[in-house]
Amino acid sequence: VVPVVIEASCAGCGTCGPACKFDAIEMQHFTDAQYIAQIEALLTEKPEDKTFIFACNWCSYPGGDTAGVARLQYPATQRLVRTMCSGRVDEKFVLKAFEMGAAVVVVSGCHYTDCHYIDAVHQTQKRVDRLWDKIEKLGIRPERLRLEWISSAQGARFQETMVELEEFRKEVTKKEIDEGVKALREERERIEAKKAAKAKAKAEKVKAT
Ligand code: FES
Repeated sequence: VVPVVIEASCAGCGTCGPACKFDAIEMQHFTDAQYIAQIEALLTEKPEDKTFIFACNWCSYPGGDTAGVARLQYPATQRLVRTMCSGRVDEKFVLKAFEMGAAVVVVSGCHYTDCHYIDAVHQTQKRVDRLWDKIEKLGIRPERLRLEWISSAQGARFQETMVELEEFRKEVTKKEIDEGVKALREERERIEAKKAAKAKAKAEKVKAT
């Protein structure tokens, strides 16, 4: 089976990519590799001092601009990456940021009725719900992953959220960050080993026939 995107029907939110179990869909100009490279670059130095934020292009990201235009000050420890919609935020991006040692990770998008891709934001909510369960099982406090709805007009809300996030970030200890990094690394290696064993078994089966 070869997946084909019907471009005329595609709104460009990128929500289908993270939802595809087979990793068969890639979003033009906002590829997985590009996001992973941005996460790595922004968390190379002192990740434990950073709050990593995925901000939707239409609301949360311009909310930051509105705060800037109004000269509202907020801490400089946040690192923002823009996505077309919060639905584009793949589970693996969030896990990567935590594995790189980020103290806090935030998925931020439009308010429920404002999402520019109608109901994509509901996929975001479901994905983050699953992620909260997943990281908790790995021993990472779910509170370290936040979901925030901020509109482009809410500069003050953006500022207040950033200030509040910074207060919380300071409470996250280096020890718990390191334990989370270790748990995520082990989990990733376990999954990769399982995938490799499965691929090897499949190749051997093909060879034998
Ligand atoms: Fe902002 Fe979907 S466009 S969350």
